[in-house]
Amino acid sequence: MDRNEAKSILPLEFRQVSFEAGGKRLIKDLSFRLEVGARTIVIGPNGAGKSLFLRLCHSLIAPSSGKIIWHGAHGYDPAPFQAMVFQRPVMLRRSVAANIGYALSLRKVPRRERPERIEEALRMTGLNRLANYSARVLSFGEQQKLALARAWVLRPQVLFLDEPTASLDPAATHDVEELINTIHQAGTRIVMTTHDLEQARRLADELLFLHRGRLLEKSAATAFFTKPENDLAQKFIAGDLLWWKRGEDNRKQISEGTTK
Ligand SMILES: Nc1ncnc2c1ncn2[C@@H]1O[C@H](COP(=O)(O)OP(=O)(O)OP(=O)(O)O)[C@@H](O)[C@H]1O
Ligand SMILES: [Mg+2]
Repeated sequence: MDRNEAKSILPLEFRQVSFEAGGKRLIKDLSFRLEVGARTIVIGPNGAGKSLFLRLCHSLIAPSSGKIIWHGAHGYDPAPFQAMVFQRPVMLRRSVAANIGYALSLRKVPRRERPERIEEALRMTGLNRLANYSARVLSFGEQQKLALARAWVLRPQVLFLDEPTASLDPAATHDVEELINTIHQAGTRIVMTTHDLEQARRLADELLFLHRGRLLEKSAATAFFTKPENDLAQKFIAGDLLWWKRGEDNRKQISEGTTK
């Protein structure tokens, strides 16, 4: 089914979601809702739990406790309506075009529809001239565009992006940000992590601030950047180093929706 043929699987709700591994609670009691429309940027220092958060959203790992609900899915599987671009995307040892085609074959898109969709994804990402190159010889920036093309070709309702520009130079970062905005304007819900504050300022409609596995703040971008409520979020914006701070504020995480 295409995005246009189905109602949105959103809103997405986390109810008291925790995730444990290696005897540690790495994600702690996350409760929030993501509605239709906005671009959500998840920020937080290294090790905050941003990648785990996206993996939970995209059902690559299951919560140890709590619930993740796609309210619009009404009993059908929400997975085919989502896509994810990983922090370190892995390219198949095939051509650029074949990498995109593979994503379509995994989703069982009919063969006759594939060439046109591959062509469109190549055009949109500016990779046309590299269509027949081996994906493994691409530069980081080109690989990241290919990762976006592989995700975009699926026409997801929701696209999860894990630090998509972390290893890119300013020009490639600019290109990727433009692509993300184009995808957003075409109606795909963006949920993206970054530790680049300037990028968050450029792209975010809504901010989630994670620290040590807790969600310490969720607010509209303007409110977040002018006056974050959480004191650690204030320090993060001010560029101060974050370290483990015992005390009230680090435990006071937001909680929304039905868990209020
Ligand atoms: N399977 C696992 N077993 C044990 N610890 C894990 C596991 N996966 C992640 N962690 C730990 O959980 C914490 C959060 O990891 P995560 O990768 O989500 O952080 P992040 O915010 O994405 O960091 P970065 O900005 O460096 O990408 C880290 O301390 C990491 O070492
Ligand atoms: Mg990460």
